[in-house]
Amino acid sequence: MSSLQPSPADTSSQRWAWWPLLPLYPYGRRPTLMRELVPNRVWCFEQLHGVWYVAVPIRMSVVKVDGGLMLYSPLAATEEVIRGIHALENAHGPVLSIVLATSSGLEHKLPVPALCRAFPRAALWVSDRQWSFPLQLPSSWLGFPADRTKILFRDGLPHPDQLSWIPLGPINLGLGTFNEVACLDHDSGSLLVTDALVSISSDPPPIFALDPTPLLFHSRQNGSERLTDTPSNRLNGWKRIVLFANFFKPVSVQVTSLHQSIGHMFGPFCRNRRSHFGFYPFQWSEDWEAEFDSLFSSGRCVQPDLMLSPVLERLVFPRHKEMFISWLRELSNYHDIKSLISCHYHAPMRITSIQLDAYAESLTGRDWARSEKSWTTLASIDQFLLRLGIVPPQA
Ligand SMILES: [Fe+2]
Repeated sequence: MSSLQPSPADTSSQRWAWWPLLPLYPYGRRPTLMRELVPNRVWCFEQLHGVWYVAVPIRMSVVKVDGGLMLYSPLAATEEVIRGIHALENAHGPVLSIVLATSSGLEHKLPVPALCRAFPRAALWVSDRQWSFPLQLPSSWLGFPADRTKILFRDGLPHPDQLSWIPLGPINLGLGTFNEVACLDHDSGSLLVTDALVSISSDPPPIFALDPTPLLFHSRQNGSERLTDTPSNRLNGWKRIVLFANFFKPVSVQVTSLHQSIGHMFGPFCRNRRSHFGFYPFQWSEDWEAEFDSLFSSGRCVQPDLMLSPVLERLVFPRHKEMFISWLRELSNYHDIKSLISCHYHAPMRITSIQLDAYAESLTGRDWARSEKSWTTLASIDQFLLRLGIVPPQA
């Protein structure tokens, strides 16, 4: 693992000028962690992104291919990131292709233009049915370079001798289309996925070593508490972030009244921007960790678990269970899969085709797109969109 951390005086290399287009934490400064996941074959660049310190990793993978490199899932191309990729180019050859393997993940789409400008000789491959909101703009208006943009499958596939491409979708989301393409690097057995599968562990991902503030912020009982860096606070903060990110409003948290929240803002540890001046309008129930454990197939997180995130299950696939399971079955036909590298949460996770098949089997027998307990908020969003006629009721 290698951090790209510059000296304190050189944080300008972490500047991301395009953050107002998607104003997520950490806004205009995006520290990046670079890790080698498979020696001399697969690397990743990771940043954080999120709302109100509910920050999870977002990841771009780099794969060594014949003659150079492929970048899977663009990331904010700060100077720090570009410098790191140039270091890989010096050792392994030029960036040949950049792949945007989702049609709907805005957080992966927005970095495309800047990354393409940084690597002007690379081909850009995108999944079909790209869309924009509120206006459906041509791809070139979104900053995709018209002279080197190709559509996956329609215009061929990048590096087909070394990589297999497995599509998931399309699904009509009303405003646009969900269409994602997984990529299997046969040499390393790495399965690259954008959003459709994640690996979640109870330990905070390594990027939080650069700055644990989001973990410490959410580990507290109320806003008047000092941000204290201890292993258990990091752990608790991560688990609560996972609950927020997966369920939006976990049942084990109550939003406190404005009066109560403001009442916590006058303590001695509140007078700083890092702690949002003590504003923390949440109260966690005593058994909140049980809700975290409920995320996992065994009812408890004993190791990183493979999952479709509840947000996708309830808001993208609620009426497409069979499509998702068929995709898992198709993945499980590749017996050389060794690890999952998703664009969020933990990576890599060691998996086998047998595990993928077992996961597909477990989904066939369980309730899908639930509406009770932790799932209540997600379900109400889905029902709201259905009522407005924004998402179609039928598969
Ligand atoms: Fe994503």
